[in-house]
Amino acid sequence: MSEHNNSLEREGNSPMLEVQGLSKVYMRGKERFQVLDNVSLTVGEGEFVSIIGPSGSGKSTLFRLIGGVEKPDQGSIRIAGQETAGRRGLISYMPQQAALFPWLTVADNVSTALMTAGAPKKEAKEQALAWLARIRLDDVAGAYPHLLSGGMQQRVSFLRALLMKRDVMCLDEPFAALDALTRSEMQRWLLELWESDRRSVLFVTHSIEEALMLSDRLYVLSPAPAKVLKEMIVPFARPRRSDVWKEREFVELKQEVLALLGAEFPD
Ligand SMILES: Nc1ncnc2c1ncn2[C@@H]1O[C@H](COP(=O)(O)OP(=O)(O)OP(=O)(O)O)[C@@H](O)[C@H]1O
Ligand SMILES: [Mg+2]
Repeated sequence: MSEHNNSLEREGNSPMLEVQGLSKVYMRGKERFQVLDNVSLTVGEGEFVSIIGPSGSGKSTLFRLIGGVEKPDQGSIRIAGQETAGRRGLISYMPQQAALFPWLTVADNVSTALMTAGAPKKEAKEQALAWLARIRLDDVAGAYPHLLSGGMQQRVSFLRALLMKRDVMCLDEPFAALDALTRSEMQRWLLELWESDRRSVLFVTHSIEEALMLSDRLYVLSPAPAKVLKEMIVPFARPRRSDVWKEREFVELKQEVLALLGAEFPD
């Protein structure tokens, strides 16, 4: 059965996503291992928010909690103002590795996302082709995903997440596995698409430049148990220029984040 109506009725002016006082403890054998310690964050409507934190700090755990796959020990998760901890199917999620259905063609991978959002089959198929043309992948519409390069699969995967039309999109290091050139192409592409169809995005990355390039705001997390060390506003105008990294303020913000993460300053 496809899941319809995954959009929640929004209560008042509440943020699209509001995580409050989230804590999570895992058991490692007999030992308690705390991953998240009182983490609070918000994503406004149409806002692009990034999370930066060391490896193992609990970012993917946070996404599993927001996605309702696991439950927090403490704290609340609100989407569109409604408590959703433990409820699945309310966000669209893009993991680090593209998650496409291998037995469906590229076009059907996209049209099933549209059908999940409620589009009738015929319309979904037409729209899927139009979207694929928009991301210059119409020539592989009839192919199966394994024939596409990693970057092409990521584009289709992102399109699926976008078209599911959930209130919140959670992207977990979606470009980490790509080479530098493809990665910067993907960032431009994601920015263009997001700027034309603003969604509420929570984006995990290890790259400070990527976070500064893409986001409206970012949260810096400590090593596990993850706490929010700092919330920062990224002040650069939209649409973002691709050479924004040359600005003095960009370099200063980058150094501030590096210092928070305890890294050495580069020259
Ligand atoms: N089910 C589990 N049981 C026990 N420990 C777990 C479980 N899931 C995750 N962990 C631990 O929680 C910590 C945080 O893991 P998580 O995957 O959330 O980190 P992360 O911030 O996403 O790291 P990375 O940047 O490397 O992806 C890790 O030490 C991991 O081993
Ligand atoms: Mg992770």
